[in-house]
Amino acid sequence: MIRWSRPRGTQDFLPPDSERKREVERLFRELVTLYGYREVETPIFEHTEIFLRSAGMESDIVTKEMYNFLDRSERQLTLRPEGTPGVVRAVLESKAGPVRCRLFYIGPFFRYGRPQKGRLRQFHQLGVEALGEASPLADAELIFLGEQFFSRLGIADCVTHINSIGCQRCRPGYRQDLLKFLKEQGPALCSDCSERALRSPLRVFDCKNPACQAALAEAPKPSQHLCPECAEHFRSVVDDLKRRGVRLEVDERLVRGLDYYNRTTFEYVSATLGAQNSLGGGGRYDYLVEELGGPATPAVGFALGLERTMLAMPQPGQERRQPLVFVVWLSQAELGPTQELAERLRAAGIPCRIDFDSGKVARQFKVADSAQASYCVIVGSEELARGCYSLKNLMTGEQVTVPAGSIVEELRRLLGSGQNKLGNRQAGTVT
Ligand code: HAM
Repeated sequence: MIRWSRPRGTQDFLPPDSERKREVERLFRELVTLYGYREVETPIFEHTEIFLRSAGMESDIVTKEMYNFLDRSERQLTLRPEGTPGVVRAVLESKAGPVRCRLFYIGPFFRYGRPQKGRLRQFHQLGVEALGEASPLADAELIFLGEQFFSRLGIADCVTHINSIGCQRCRPGYRQDLLKFLKEQGPALCSDCSERALRSPLRVFDCKNPACQAALAEAPKPSQHLCPECAEHFRSVVDDLKRRGVRLEVDERLVRGLDYYNRTTFEYVSATLGAQNSLGGGGRYDYLVEELGGPATPAVGFALGLERTMLAMPQPGQERRQPLVFVVWLSQAELGPTQELAERLRAAGIPCRIDFDSGKVARQFKVADSAQASYCVIVGSEELARGCYSLKNLMTGEQVTVPAGSIVEELRRLLGSGQNKLGNRQAGTVT
């Protein structure tokens, strides 16, 4: 008897995984709807040309990963490797004139890569595209939205890497500088990179060859060439994200593997996923709509990998922490301020408890742990004198000091705003 196996690089979703997948999708739908995104569905295959025009002829996706085929009428088609070009095509096809809409999509995508943990040939993305939006605050809001999604799923180790790669005005200067540097590297670069350098120098950053990565350590950085407008745009994005409490890392090598980006590029990076650690990514693409035949339209978007997200989520059977905070008091003298803080948190919609009975701090932590609380806020006389609290993450053990004035915002951010975790909807936390 033959036992059939699924094609290499594909994955089955049987219960309960199929149910977990639906739950992730439901949460994504619910969250993006709060930001005004509406669902779009596009075909699984498109004319090959639109991917060539958008991702770029030198990108890994186009050169190595596309599932291309001729149909019976000899049309050149491709199983979609990503969603952005199809969404733009669909919007342009649906109506003439200015483009301004927020759309989201969930579905399968296809890339012929070497399968490994977190890298599949058929995978799923959850994506958003904000077409017609130029403000840096749109970039920041969208990046924050992705971060909120991971935080709601209980993914605690996600850091947002961010960079700016400039615009049509300042990129040529950077390109030239980079090309000069690459030529100087000579044989230190692999043959692929030496060739790519001449046609599309930025694409050398996609190379995984350790020798190339070492050679690129000293490469010029896009930030050294940003025009004043791009520098100001980047500053505004970063400032707004910091204001929102997003954990950020500026990564000057983050150019992303697709040619259509300009200005902001970003990726959500998980510390625990191993080699395929990008949970999602995106950026601004102000030229793509025009490139695909539409009017000049600024745009920004991201796509999150569903399988990687599911790998990074707390696994079933693993301890599931509640969106609950324990306020811990060090001595009788702090009991009053502890109660006041607890009431302040509750008034802000953050569920919290105090263990009045234990007295001993270690015992209070034990009670918090058995109630599956996620965080403890520690109220001590020293902290009170300094106008701050210690905040302990019970999932990771990490402890930080938070100014008293920011504790509500910080906990809201950590617990993820909205009704899923907190049981009520927070005005002001979801923009
Ligand atoms: P991307 O970075 O190519 O961007 O893909 C986004 C996410 O899809 C990745 O971070 C990863 O989580 C997931 N992903 C990609 N390839 C695979 C694979 N072979 N197996 C499993 N997961 C994978 C884009 O696709 C852009 N369209 C994002 C975007 C939207 N930019 C602007 N708007």
